[in-house]
Amino acid sequence: MFHVKLVLIRRNGRYPPPKGGEYLQDSSETSSQNRAQLSLCRDFGEAGGKVSRETYIPIEKSRRSVYNIPVMGKVIALFNQKGGVGKTTTCVNLCCAFTEAGRRTLVVDCDPQGQSTSGLGIARQNAAPNTYHVLIEGVPAEKAVVSTPYGDVIPCNRDLFGSGIQLAEAEGRETILREALKPLRDKYDFIHIDCPALLELLTLNALCAADSVLIPVQCEYLALEGLSELMGTLRMIRRTLNPDLEVEGVVLTMYDGRTNLSMQVANAVKKHMKQAVCKTAIPRSVRVSEAPSHGMPVLRTDRSSRGAIAYRLLAEEIMAKNPKPK
Ligand SMILES: Nc1ncnc2c1ncn2[C@@H]1O[C@H](COP(=O)(O)OP(=O)(O)OP(=O)(O)O)[C@@H](O)[C@H]1O
Ligand SMILES: [Mg+2]
Repeated sequence: MFHVKLVLIRRNGRYPPPKGGEYLQDSSETSSQNRAQLSLCRDFGEAGGKVSRETYIPIEKSRRSVYNIPVMGKVIALFNQKGGVGKTTTCVNLCCAFTEAGRRTLVVDCDPQGQSTSGLGIARQNAAPNTYHVLIEGVPAEKAVVSTPYGDVIPCNRDLFGSGIQLAEAEGRETILREALKPLRDKYDFIHIDCPALLELLTLNALCAADSVLIPVQCEYLALEGLSELMGTLRMIRRTLNPDLEVEGVVLTMYDGRTNLSMQVANAVKKHMKQAVCKTAIPRSVRVSEAPSHGMPVLRTDRSSRGAIAYRLLAEEIMAKNPKPK
């Protein structure tokens, strides 16, 4: 659910009546938006909603376009504080799958390893401006966007190593990325943030900027232990920094249906996380692990491989949950 803030303007010493009357929006809005929001406010009033000086009107994401309200892209952080579980691989391949499906997609690489950047074919050494410049030097995020055939990217590289110290001194240090991405949110359907494996200020920025978290879980021993720790982290983030943070899904990665271990881990994760587990599991496949050496997602290096098909299915699952507004 999304909320529109309406600021009513006093007329003849009164606020307009809450039902069927005329409501005026902040004059900073364009007139067509103003008209659309007037009708939103009227509909809300007629449906029995109370309107006062400042009212936050709840509106379904899919109905925003009816009222001419800019549709914001969904920001999804790829997060698991465990390393090497498939965050970057999932980020890169989902980006490509969404782009192929006609959804405008941006990857924000927040990992100083810069593997999403190179995985999408960008030479990370010279990539500038990049996430570092956006977070630390205040460069507008749109200036750092690089277009690739697989989707747009805000690249990242070793510049970001050690940025934690600089971030720690900044004002509003956990919300810098959220503020930086605001101007881009209505330009994309999906914004993916590739997080580093550690829970540090960079990751807190990503979790603060995100609407939801997609959690890749590698089908291996101790996966469940890492997952309960991670859910604890998310609860802490919701309590303190981002109360609206949702779980987009848990994706089982590097699944090998021939081994008992993979099946046991998958069953245990499903028992623990229930409907949050995505129906599509990503199979372990050499094609998937080779693709980054070509600077391309596996969806392009081997379109019909099991890994490519799985990532396309996963993208469909996520798109079905987040339908394109009419
Ligand atoms: N489905 C898969 N099949 C085979 N190998 C895979 C698969 N998914 C990921 N890998 C390989 O596993 C390794 C870790 O994947 P990846 O870099 O995506 O994980 P990560 O969670 O982003 O790691 P980090 O925590 O270091 O950022 C990589 O070498 C990648 O190529
Ligand atoms: Mg990674």
